[in-house]
Amino acid sequence: MPVYCITGTNRGIGLEFVRQLAQSPDNTIIAAIRSLSSDLTELKAAASASTHILECDTGNVTSIHAFVKSAAQILGENQKIDFLFNSAAVNLKSSQSSLNLGVDELHTQLSINVLGPAKTVELFLDAGLLSQNVRVLNMTSGLASLQLTAGGSGRKCAGYSISKVALNMLTVHQSDDLRKRLPGAVVIVLDPGWVKTRMGGAGAQSEVSDAVGDVLKVVHGLKDEDNGAFFHHTGEKIPW
Ligand SMILES: NC(=O)c1ccc[n+]([C@@H]2O[C@H](COP(=O)([O-])OP(=O)(O)OC[C@H]3O[C@@H](n4cnc5c(N)ncnc54)[C@H](OP(=O)(O)O)[C@@H]3O)[C@@H](O)[C@H]2O)c1
Repeated sequence: MPVYCITGTNRGIGLEFVRQLAQSPDNTIIAAIRSLSSDLTELKAAASASTHILECDTGNVTSIHAFVKSAAQILGENQKIDFLFNSAAVNLKSSQSSLNLGVDELHTQLSINVLGPAKTVELFLDAGLLSQNVRVLNMTSGLASLQLTAGGSGRKCAGYSISKVALNMLTVHQSDDLRKRLPGAVVIVLDPGWVKTRMGGAGAQSEVSDAVGDVLKVVHGLKDEDNGAFFHHTGEKIPW
């Protein structure tokens, strides 16, 4: 009876995770959303009887604390999180380059895209809610590959890509730090590809259902030695 915890589930890739995972009644799903006052029609339609919708603003540490407390009440003594998907993120002002970065935009992106996943993992760990073999998926972007970007591909969305590079480094740290507490833990970053969501836009390459199907295949096939790796949704490794 695996337990999944996913952030940013009211739309996009997070919503599709819920939709696909809810097909199995064996899965317990904690579906986090930024605000309970959002339109939850699609999420409620996708949810199963064992899906729990909770509020978590990943840009706000107080909200993450409250989320972990609510999740603890739902999971009780016997259930722990087997899969933690940090999917919530923002890409603000993608037109900004390295020469006109917005101070507020960069702070907000670092707060939601980096500190959010950091504190979510930290607080769930401290609450004793991560299973011994937990799989943590930090959703990154191909734009966070220094090697690919330096090689000329996709030099855009400066602030967002900087925040995702920081998320990649967070993941490298988490993959080691978490192992010291949970020897079977595997933490990865994964690029879902260019996906048709509000962030990806209608002109993106992949349907969200295909991208999420691919991501779930990668996550379900993770081995011990994959800890700390940077994956493409196809299962190939991406150069840092
Ligand atoms: N789509 C792509 O082409 C693509 C490519 C590479 C990587 N990714 C990554 O894939 C992940 C999912 O992206 P997506 O395409 O599904 O994006 P999306 O359609 O823009 O959805 C983003 C989700 O994150 C939530 N979110 C934003 N700020 C939040 C906050 N402070 N607290 C909690 N939730 C918050 C949003 O909730 P609200 O509706 O409440 O704002 C929404 O549910 C992200 O990490 C993104 O960087 C996407």
